[in-house]
Amino acid sequence: MKSRERIRNVGNRAKKSKMEFLSKIVRVHIPDYLNSVPVPDSFGGFLDLTAGQWLHLFAFSGTVAAAVYVSVKPYLDKKDQKDQLVNLRIQKESSKVVNMVDIEDLGNKVCYCRCWRSKKFPLCDGSHAKHNEDTGDNVGPLVLKRKDV
Ligand code: FES
Repeated sequence: MKSRERIRNVGNRAKKSKMEFLSKIVRVHIPDYLNSVPVPDSFGGFLDLTAGQWLHLFAFSGTVAAAVYVSVKPYLDKKDQKDQLVNLRIQKESSKVVNMVDIEDLGNKVCYCRCWRSKKFPLCDGSHAKHNEDTGDNVGPLVLKRKDV
C-alpha cells in the first residue's frame, strides 16, 4: 500500500514539475523574449535600429510568419483542393463514382469519358473537346476496341 502511495506521489511530483516548467515558459520566458524584441515606438524609430536589432526583428517576424503560415496552411490546402476537382457534377452524392460494365456488353468499340464533362458519363460524348479548348488541357476518351480477327 505504501509503495503505491510513493509511486503516486512521484507521479504527481513529475506532473507538477512539468506544469511548473510550462508555467514558467508562459509567464516568464515568453514575456521576457517579447520585451526584448526591438519594436520602435514610431515608424521613424526603424531608422535608428542597429543591424543586430534588425536581425532580431527579422528573426522574430519570420518566426511569427512561419507560425501563422503553418496554422493557416491546412485551410488553404482544402480550398486549393476544391479548385482542383476533376469531377464537377457527376454523382456528387456518392463518396466514389464507380461504373461497372460487363465485358460481353462492350460491343466492337466503345469510348469512355476521362474528362468527367460528358453528359452521357461514363461514355464519351465529345465534351472533352470544349474542355480542352477552355482549359488548354489535352484529355480524351479511353477507346476500347475489339481486335480485328
Ligand atoms: S467527353 Fe470526356 S473524354 Fe470525351
